[in-house]
Amino acid sequence: MAEIIGISAGRKNKITESLIETILQGTGKSYELISLSGKLVRPCEACNGCVKNNRCVFQDDFLPIVEKMYQSEGIVFGAPTYWDHMNAKGQAFWEKLCFSGRHNGVFPLRGKPGVIAAVDGIGDGKHVIRDVKKYYDDAGINLVGNVVAQGEYACFTCGYGNYCPDGGFAELFPLGTPITEDIKPSISNQHPEICDLKPEERNIKEKAKNMGAILAKVIDNHKKQQGLFNEE
Ligand SMILES: Cc1cc2nc3c(=O)[nH]c(=O)nc-3n(C[C@H](O)[C@H](O)[C@H](O)COP(=O)(O)O)c2cc1C
Repeated sequence: MAEIIGISAGRKNKITESLIETILQGTGKSYELISLSGKLVRPCEACNGCVKNNRCVFQDDFLPIVEKMYQSEGIVFGAPTYWDHMNAKGQAFWEKLCFSGRHNGVFPLRGKPGVIAAVDGIGDGKHVIRDVKKYYDDAGINLVGNVVAQGEYACFTCGYGNYCPDGGFAELFPLGTPITEDIKPSISNQHPEICDLKPEERNIKEKAKNMGAILAKVIDNHKKQQGLFNEE
């Protein structure tokens, strides 16, 4: 069983996933990265089916992931912003997790340390941090910190992006700019639209790894403290 579980609500092999993976690598612990992309997580129907045993009764891909979270020592959750909110996939996941995991004083994630990976097209991350923090608080997850990244708008690869006045590409570059690799945002190429960034602002890999190292330290200290407490 992996010590740390990472969950991405972003696209497969895109920025949210690579940010989470880098944080997980920084922990130096065993980890499993689970992508919600291609998985079915139905929203909460408020059917009360979970009341007796804190488990959602619907047969989708949700429960096996949650069981792994329950067994883990720490969580790294990341999502992109869609329309100034965490995307619906991430939202559906947490709706169910927080409702099924909150009956009769049982909060299975209470006290687990967690990190948030927040991604959006402009690199500010505030909507995802706000939304995920609310769920972490409700579940009793201890927020260790967050890492924010500018992601790659879908317009970079749709085939029309650099001539579309309605897309995200036009927020960053003048229409007509050729889409070359060096202007695509990645975690090692943040804000290609800004010329004079410091190297650590352009490449946030070390920052993400450092957040992973902090998460690992928090977990180790927590375990040590619990050991001392149990000895008494
Ligand atoms: C439907 C949709 C809505 C979006 N809304 C926003 C938004 O409100 N603000 C923003 O900064 N980026 C927005 N984005 C851009 C995504 O946050 C960005 O592409 C991010 O990189 C996606 O994460 P991923 O690459 O890990 O899939 C939106 C993208 C989509 C597809």
